[in-house]
Amino acid sequence: MTMPSIPDGAEDAGERSALDVLGEQYANIFEGHMRDLCGEPHKNIPSRLMEAMSYSLMAGGKRLRPSLCLAAAERSGVGPSRAMPMAMAVEFMHTASLIHDDLPCMDDDDLRRGLPTSHRKFGECMAVLAGDSLMIWSFGYALSHLPSQGIPADRVVRALAILGEASGPGGMCGGQVLDTDIESRADGDDFVRRIASAKTAALIRASLVSGAMLGDITDADLQCYYDYGTHLGVAFQIVDDILDVTSTAEAIGKTPNKDESQDKITFVSAYGLERAREMAAEESLEAEHAMESLFPEGDLLIDLANDLVHRSH
Ligand code: IPE
Ligand code: IPE
Ligand code: MG
Ligand code: MG
Ligand code: MG
Repeated sequence: MTMPSIPDGAEDAGERSALDVLGEQYANIFEGHMRDLCGEPHKNIPSRLMEAMSYSLMAGGKRLRPSLCLAAAERSGVGPSRAMPMAMAVEFMHTASLIHDDLPCMDDDDLRRGLPTSHRKFGECMAVLAGDSLMIWSFGYALSHLPSQGIPADRVVRALAILGEASGPGGMCGGQVLDTDIESRADGDDFVRRIASAKTAALIRASLVSGAMLGDITDADLQCYYDYGTHLGVAFQIVDDILDVTSTAEAIGKTPNKDESQDKITFVSAYGLERAREMAAEESLEAEHAMESLFPEGDLLIDLANDLVHRSH
């Protein structure tokens, strides 16, 4: 993928893309922590369950949400090692949502992160339980580890409330209902955006907001992350819908052309490819504006919005 060069303001970015810089600054450290966690003995966890969770956790996702969480936390004065339990929590939640999303009762998918899906590898029962376990571990892990990083209890509670609201019936799970349940389908132009806001943008936004609120931040500044996350998250889902019809299994690590075969309402089915591309660019511009008001001198997160629209996987 050819990336645009980074404008002034993205520290020592040189010619590298904002996505590369995000990877170097956050995703790589995150990957190391996840590898350690998956490699450690966990004496109370049945070994097959740990194997199933690790299989999905270590299958090589982009680590966008934990990277956003670490980036936002650092901008509030909390460095990556102290914010790490929150980043782990958002990736646990996200990975669980993918395991469940692929189940035969949902999108019935065979390929995820370039590997057979969890239920294909371990059976449906284990996939359901691996997803359940990761969702619940998400909260348990963060609650167990954030206080020992010196994060005050009131901030931990607020951050986890954000994650809970974003993942539950009013967020990701509710969005998955709008996406899959025929009885819940509604007419109107904004329905596809409602689905994306709930199933995808809510967790992307929560990754940023929960990270930012671990440190010192005003409500007005937090609102900028909120608006940025909303637009970035919708743009991200629009591009996901576009890649479903334009990309290959090798590039995206999942089955292409799946949405049409599942009769999904997507930005491509609702608006066509060309308009969907324009809408992704519009959402990304809104995201940039939200971050520009927080970082008028420029910031990696501003550049990232554009990069994510041009991503290839
Ligand atoms: C896939 O998310 C599900 C959507 C919300 C579109 P990602 O594209 O971030 O998946 P990974 O984490 O890189 O596998
Ligand atoms: C999934 O949306 C959103 C989730 C909450 C997991 P999709 O069904 O489009 O995600 P992919 O394309 O399978 O990754
Ligand atoms: Mg789905
Ligand atoms: Mg799917
Ligand atoms: Mg998709």
